Amino acid sequence: MIEAHSKETVVRQRYAAGAKERADKLCCPVDYNSEYLKVIPREVIERDYGCGDPSRYLLEGEIVVDLGSGTGKICFIAAQIVGPKGKVIGIDMTDEMLEVARRNAPIVAERIGYMNVQFRKGRIQDLALDLELLDRQLKQSPIADAASFLDADELAEELRCKHPLIASDSVDVVVSSCVLNLVEPKSKRQLFDEIFRVLKKGGRAVISDIVSDEELPEEMQNDPELWSGCVSGALTEEGFLTAFASAGFYGIQILKRDVNPWRTVQGIEFRSVTVEAFKGKQGPCLECNQAVIYRGPFKEVLDDDNHRMERGKRYAVCDKTYNLYKKVPYREFFEFVDPLVDVPLAEAKPFDCSRTALRHPKETKGQDYDATTEANNTCCDGGSCC
Ligand SMILES: C[S@@+](CC[C@H](N)C(=O)[O-])C[C@H]1O[C@@H](n2cnc3c(N)ncnc32)[C@H](O)[C@@H]1O
Repeated sequence: MIEAHSKETVVRQRYAAGAKERADKLCCPVDYNSEYLKVIPREVIERDYGCGDPSRYLLEGEIVVDLGSGTGKICFIAAQIVGPKGKVIGIDMTDEMLEVARRNAPIVAERIGYMNVQFRKGRIQDLALDLELLDRQLKQSPIADAASFLDADELAEELRCKHPLIASDSVDVVVSSCVLNLVEPKSKRQLFDEIFRVLKKGGRAVISDIVSDEELPEEMQNDPELWSGCVSGALTEEGFLTAFASAGFYGIQILKRDVNPWRTVQGIEFRSVTVEAFKGKQGPCLECNQAVIYRGPFKEVLDDDNHRMERGKRYAVCDKTYNLYKKVPYREFFEFVDPLVDVPLAEAKPFDCSRTALRHPKETKGQDYDATTEANNTCCDGGSCC
């Protein structure tokens, strides 16, 4: 039986060794875009312990945080995708991993012609606490007794507030490859909350991780070898998606799921999935007389706010939902009906988002609307109708 705190120690020790010398069992094969690998030094590529490539979903100019960045491969790929206008921050708690990543950062920068990557020391379930700042302060006033231990706790809290490792609402995309499973169960909830905290409104998480197809028996969860080998800490594939939803994310979807398991242990399959989830549902719900029509192909859908919408029917939505549905990942599934006369947000009344309501066409056109028009000969994509 291993205790929660020693699970983290086991992980740190195993990846400290993995930073110095390649460890075979710690990774599952990933198909990276070879173009981006050309500028990355061999020791970084060799010490690849990932299980997916979230970097392929990034866009130019984005600010990216990579959780558990290891020797930095995903960060160095991301640096090239986001370009000089973007920025990439790798977070890892293992000094040996940070050493390799930091030593190679200037080499990659020289090859691509700009430096937009930094590596910071922290625990991914506590993205506010800069462990190097804490290290420095504790060197000046080491913990010697219970009183100084309590002082250190206060100091950590002060650092979180005044000098956060990653500030709230500051990141466009949080990515990670094969790390979330390594966080002890009691901190998993906090981990997803932290990902949510650091993202900007409208930002997204794109996370590759190992998931299991069944719940894990307790003996397996307490096996240190399986734990640090990305097996025992895996969430179930359903639990992984639920964790995003519980933290307040919306638009959650599986972008990639390996058909073949990476490992099977006692009949339980472990495979890599990549999941995307968005932040940005927060804010007031206002009535601007907009409507959406679910296009299908399913007979009905249920959204993250429990609105159940049947195919082809017009539904009333608040202005916030209307605008969210106009973006990825929803826009291809809906038709959008604007009101004939815009309702300025400053004049909009509150909208009750807790119910699902149909929208009569008269509500978008106006109750007095009684226009009669001639056939519109340029209605269909500029061609002639009928
Ligand atoms: C399986 S490796 C993945 C490394 C990298 N993402 C890759 O694709 O090669 C896990 C990495 O996460 C780091 N790590 C594990 N748990 C962590 C935690 N709670 N906080 C910060 N880093 C952590 C380890 O030090 C290690 O570098």
